[in-house]
Amino acid sequence: MDICVIGAGYVGLTSAAVLAELGHRVICVDKDLEKINNLKNGIIPIFEPLLEDLIKKNKTLLTFSHSIEESISKAATLLIAVGTPSNIDGSSDLSFIKSVINEISGHIFSYKTIIIKSTVPPGTNESIYKTILEKGVDPSQFNIVSNPEFLREGSAITDMINADRIVVGLRDGDGYSLSIIKQMYHGLKSPYIITSLTGAEMIKYASNAMLALKISFINELARICDKYLVDIQDVAKGIGADARIGPHFLQAGIGYGGSCFPKDVLSLQFSAKAKNVNTPILEALQEINDTQVNIYIDKLKEMMPDLSHSIITVLGIAFKANTDDTRYSPSVRLMNRLSEIGCEIHAYDPKAVLPMAHNRIIQFNRLEESILDSDCLILATDWEEFLQLDWNDVKSKMKGNILLDARNCLKKNEIEKLGFNYLGIGRP
Ligand code: UGA
Repeated sequence: MDICVIGAGYVGLTSAAVLAELGHRVICVDKDLEKINNLKNGIIPIFEPLLEDLIKKNKTLLTFSHSIEESISKAATLLIAVGTPSNIDGSSDLSFIKSVINEISGHIFSYKTIIIKSTVPPGTNESIYKTILEKGVDPSQFNIVSNPEFLREGSAITDMINADRIVVGLRDGDGYSLSIIKQMYHGLKSPYIITSLTGAEMIKYASNAMLALKISFINELARICDKYLVDIQDVAKGIGADARIGPHFLQAGIGYGGSCFPKDVLSLQFSAKAKNVNTPILEALQEINDTQVNIYIDKLKEMMPDLSHSIITVLGIAFKANTDDTRYSPSVRLMNRLSEIGCEIHAYDPKAVLPMAHNRIIQFNRLEESILDSDCLILATDWEEFLQLDWNDVKSKMKGNILLDARNCLKKNEIEKLGFNYLGIGRP
């Protein structure tokens, strides 16, 4: 098949690379000329494991372009994967997707299956269909499919190849688009879930909201466990063993971040409000996430009476391991709060770069330098590099001995044996 992927962000690039790997001819188009020129020269704009290898491996099938008009003329299947960031009021900013639809509508000269992968609020795909009709495109010339993605940054390629499910939202009776989707994903063994356009949009939002809820739930439980001297890891294991609950997304820590959960939960809440539906659960899960950093600050204040004059090393800037993405990173939130208190922050990350310039938050290129003379070390992202550290060596370079494990990912007993004062959440 010839497929045109519009948007070269992590979803668009991952989709393009995997579709080429499945044997399709793929043109990936983006309005960012510099990004496209770099991609043409083999320079990948983001750090995403396996992505660069897959793009290089499939370079004869996967090409890059800056022109939507030219690219869509070569493909009957268009896959739209542009960003839908948050507006200030929490609603989704659909300007990128609207501008792509406008441009496509003016250049439909043969039948197109238009697949929307971008995360969009319920009702958007229906309104895209109407917009294209209003632009004068004949209904016999196109159809719209909602095909949301469930790709985690850091494991996007494997998530796409081994997807738990492929969700497909169709207009009533649109069997042709389903056959196109099945042709496109030919080779993947994932089960299909077929629903309406709006049903697929809702599945995407509900999935992210449910995962965010699990994280906030375990973080609230961890706060209670702290008071009753119960190990939250045992609780997560105990409840996760119940197949009805499942073991995933029950890792307590500084809370969720990234470009998806925060904006999607807000957007779902906005969509609910628009129809006068109250959302106490969505509100509560966000409140827990927003205040999780404070719990850690309080722990530090208790342990370090002179916190405001201390040097604190923060390992991990990205919102989670295996990505260089710092959007809504809880680590950045924590650093900002600590610097407001007066701390000097020394940050290090294997891939991510501090998103802001700050005179009290300094990024180091070498981990060893970031820990020198620090009073306290905070493990804010569970990068493998940090889990493998020689903690004895780390301690010998620090001035103090406080280790705040904000991801609950270290072995407390072993760390304490080395003379560290270990702080986690729900880790008595
Ligand atoms: C998330 C979803 O997992 C994907 O299925 C979805 O496609 C994607 O959003 C999206 O909508 O595009 P992502 O944001 O890349 O993917 O990362 P996750 O692995 O879901 O982690 C989100 C946040 O939750 C991270 O800050 C992570 O550290 C945190 N987290 C995750 C926890 O604090 N505890 C856990 O047990 C799991």
